[in-house]
Amino acid sequence: MELKNLTLKVCDIAKEVGLFIKEECVKINAGHIETKSQNSLVTYVDKTAEKKIIDFLSELIPDSGFIAEEGTSDKKGEVYNWVIDPLDGTTNFIHGIPTYCVSIALLKNKKLISGVIYEPNRDEMFFAWENGGSYLNNNPISVSSANKLSDSLLATGFPYYDYKRLEAYMDILKWLMHHSRGVRRIGSAAIDLAYVACGRFEAFYEYSLNPWDVAAGALIVAEAGGSVTDFQGGDNYLFGREIIASNKHMEAELLEKIKYSF
Ligand code: IPD
Ligand code: CA
Ligand code: CA
Repeated sequence: MELKNLTLKVCDIAKEVGLFIKEECVKINAGHIETKSQNSLVTYVDKTAEKKIIDFLSELIPDSGFIAEEGTSDKKGEVYNWVIDPLDGTTNFIHGIPTYCVSIALLKNKKLISGVIYEPNRDEMFFAWENGGSYLNNNPISVSSANKLSDSLLATGFPYYDYKRLEAYMDILKWLMHHSRGVRRIGSAAIDLAYVACGRFEAFYEYSLNPWDVAAGALIVAEAGGSVTDFQGGDNYLFGREIIASNKHMEAELLEKIKYSF
């Protein structure tokens, strides 16, 4: 199947599942919350959403495998593997904050070739496929053209269990607070990346992330003309647990600061 058509089919399942998540949000109470590890929460909604996505994708590419947050399937695909976060922003979701999304990406061998992020409360569908550009609700998007850190709005995630690098992280945050328009922590790495891709944020950085948090967003940023690296400027951002994504103008300055602080 052509990559564009495949991506549009993934958008359909992301939308269906996103609307399911939104419907369930009002029903969540303390009894539904399970703790996987420190500050890592999950509910039946995350698990059901993941199962729905995997059932659909298993039919779309029968030989494909899965890297999925809730562990619904550990099937390994020889060529194709889906990287899935059924609900990115679970803590927001549990607390009734409307910033969460569905994130689905496809790897061919080790390369990202398709990515979809759907934010149900804004009805915003971000998607991209290899060499096809990035889109928001079918309109092409690109990263912002701001070229000064002082004109930029940045996004990050606050560490919530790995505090070993907290001091270095706080130094960077403090420096960026002095040198940018501000730093946001909206609670969903996938949405942070989608917002870099469409120019709302100039850059995003975070550590201790998993592949499912960043896979779709990384491709959407890259196809929107942005840069995506790990904290050393290399390309190990998918499995390396660190990411800097930016409109290329911010890359050097941010990297310089982050690389030498961590
Ligand atoms: C989390 C969100 C959050 C980030 C965390 C992730 P989850 O994903 O993306 O913004 O700071 O590191 O784990 O648990 O809501 O899927
Ligand atoms: Ca996540
Ligand atoms: Ca999740």
